[in-house]
Parts: sequence; structure tokens; C-alpha cells
Amino acid sequence: MASELHGGCEEARHLYVHLPFCAHRCGYCDFVTAVGRKPQHGAYVDALLAELELERAPLAPRLETVFLGGGTPTFTEPAALQRLLDGLPDADEVTVEANPETVTPALARLLSRNRVNRVSLGAQSFQPRLLSVLERRARPDDVRRAVYVLRDAGFDNISLDLVYGIPGQTAPDLEADLAETLALEPEHASCYELEAKPGTRFTHAHGVELERQAESMESYFERVVDVLTGAAYRWYETANFCRADEGRDLRARHNLGYWLGRDYLGLGIGAVSTIGSVRRRNAPRLGPYLAALSGGQEPPRELERLDGGTRRRERVMLGLRLDEPLLLGDLEAAVDREALARLERLGLIVRSGVNGHETLALTDRGRFLGGGVTAELLT
Ligand SMILES: C[S@@+](CC[C@H](N)C(=O)[O-])C[C@H]1O[C@@H](n2cnc3c(N)ncnc32)[C@H](O)[C@@H]1O
Ligand code: SF4
Repeated sequence: MASELHGGCEEARHLYVHLPFCAHRCGYCDFVTAVGRKPQHGAYVDALLAELELERAPLAPRLETVFLGGGTPTFTEPAALQRLLDGLPDADEVTVEANPETVTPALARLLSRNRVNRVSLGAQSFQPRLLSVLERRARPDDVRRAVYVLRDAGFDNISLDLVYGIPGQTAPDLEADLAETLALEPEHASCYELEAKPGTRFTHAHGVELERQAESMESYFERVVDVLTGAAYRWYETANFCRADEGRDLRARHNLGYWLGRDYLGLGIGAVSTIGSVRRRNAPRLGPYLAALSGGQEPPRELERLDGGTRRRERVMLGLRLDEPLLLGDLEAAVDREALARLERLGLIVRSGVNGHETLALTDRGRFLGGGVTAELLT
């Protein structure tokens, strides 16, 4: 069946593949996940490969990035994961998200044999009591061991995820997490403010403490930036840092594609694709996804038409998260000139010109305030 995304668009050079299975569900998680279901992993991979066949038309002959995200991609049955990696197109950067406790020498070999050249490890914290609050399976030693196992298998591009604002966390806990992270010398680190969705069991259980943590978020964020930039990491995106090794650009190329407003194709339950003026979201339900694709049909999904104004506003919003100036060019119409002048006077944004082309960038203060500044700037 012809896809609505095909035809007349520029080619997509980024592919996202969603692997939803996890060994258990962590309390704070709001991603599209399915617990266990080992007998269905093979059928899900068949469905992913069938979806790829149906939707591959907008993909460029050579991809820049492939990203296997989750869920816990490394919880997927090894034979199914092997088959998936075999069936996916090659790319310059192939990333797999991994939970530390799933990283064994055999898994590391499976990944490296199959062209995976970047692993993103969900550490979250190195404090046992905070990992328990998050209902994580991995202990601090699992994170360290996972990094060593990956290094032994030859991986030279490892990212660690941390979250801060965890119920019960203190400033010294955060310092310790950052020190532990630096000791492992990852090429990349992502540090996220913990988001707790209202109405969830987690929010219910930790409500008062989450409110207390919210008051510390700004100082935690500043500390994250101070410590990581102090250790020569580049703060290249609001929540993302990379080592500044000579001759290597260690920014996450896949996510950079999103932040630069590039087109991408997403496969799997809950996956989003944005190509040209269409955004498509696959329904987050496993049964209907498997049923549709086993019958050669598109999975259930929602389509959203994006007008030029929406895409321009998104590009400004995402582009200003980066440390490189945003070329205004055709994005001019998305920017409120009066708000821009005001934000400039407040020292939150700087305007410059490169060869007569106007660029915008948030100052460090603007970057700490983040989305609020950009929201004010947009028409
Ligand atoms: C798609 S998730 C899951 C990856 C992997 N399954 C894991 O748990 O490590 C990728 C990252 O998003 C971050 N994350 C997940 N839930 C979050 C939340 N509620 N608030 C902030 N960050 C979150 C975590 O740092 C996590 O490593
Ligand atoms: S392992 Fe990761 S994706 Fe799975 S439930 Fe936990 S946080 Fe969510």
C-alpha cells in the first residue's frame, strides 16, 4: 500500500527503530514499552522489517544514522535482534540503547559484529538508593561493568544517560554521579531533568518530594553544566555533552538530525516519522501493529499535516537548543522581532551576522532558562 509520506520530498537520512520490550517497567518511565513478551520478539522484528519494506521509499540510498531505541533494545531475544540488525540499512552512525544489566560480552560482540558503532547506556544514577527509587534493575557496578565490557569489545563511542531531580536526591548525590560518570570517560553524556507525569503511580508515591526536587532543578542543571564543561566536555545541546577529542565530532548525529529539523523515518509501535509536511505517529499498541503488518498492511497510525509556520517554529525551538548559532534565513517569519530585541536587552539571546546572514544563539543564561526564552521569541 502506498504511504502518504512518499513522493516529492527530500530524502530522509535518519532511521529510528523502536524496540519496546523491557524486563520490567521502571516507575518513572513514560516511553512506549511492553514487559517481557519474549515469544513475541521474533514476530515484532518481522513486523519491523515488513514496515521498513513498505515505507523505505523516502530513505536515502545511504543513511547517516540508524538509532535503535526503547524500551530496552538489548533485552530483545538475541536471535531476533541479530535478524533485525541484518535487515536494516547501513549508516555512518548506528546507535543502540542498552540497559547496563543486559550488557554481556556476547551481546557486545553481537552488536559490534553487526555494524553498531555507538551504545547509549541508561545509567541514570550511581546511588543505590536512588536507583531503587527509580525502580531500576541495574546497580552502580552493572553500569561500570557494562562500560568495561563494551570497551573490551572495541566500542569507542559510548554515551551515558543520567537523570537528576530524583526523589531523595541531594546536591552531593549529584556531584557523586557526575564524578562517577567522568571516571568512566564516556565520549558522550546526556543529563535529563527527571520528568514525572501527573497521575502516575510514581508521582503519587513521591509527590511531596518531587515538589521539593523541582525547587533544586535549576541549581542541579547549572552544576551539571559546570562540572561537565569543567572536564572539557562540550555542552552542545541543552541536555547533551560530548568529549572534545581532536579530529572527532562526538555529538549524537542521530539526535542532531532531529534538532536540525531534518526528515526521519520511524519504525515500530509509537514511532514518529517526519517527512516533508507530514508527521506520522504509529499507534502505541503491539497487537494491532503485529496484526496489520503480518497481513501486509500499514499499522494503525495518526497523520498530522505540518504547515510551513509550524515547521519553522519547531526548527527555531530545536535549533536554539544547540550551541551553534542558528541561521535565521527562511525562519525569519517564525521570530517576533520585538521579543527578540527584548530578549537581547536582557542578555538571553545574541544576534550576529555571518557573511551578511543573520544568526541567533542563546547566551549561557538563556540556555539555562531554555524553552521559556524560545517560547517568548516565537510568533
Ligand atoms: C528511551 S529511555 C530508555 C532507555 C533504556 N531502556 C533505559 O532505561 O536505560 C532513554 C533515556 O531517557 C531518559 N528518561 C527516561 N524516562 C525519563 C523521565 N521520566 N524523565 C527524564 N528522563 C527520562 C533516561 O535517561 C533514559 O536512559
Ligand atoms: S528499562 Fe528504560 S524503557 Fe524500560 S521501563 Fe525502564 S526506563 Fe522505561
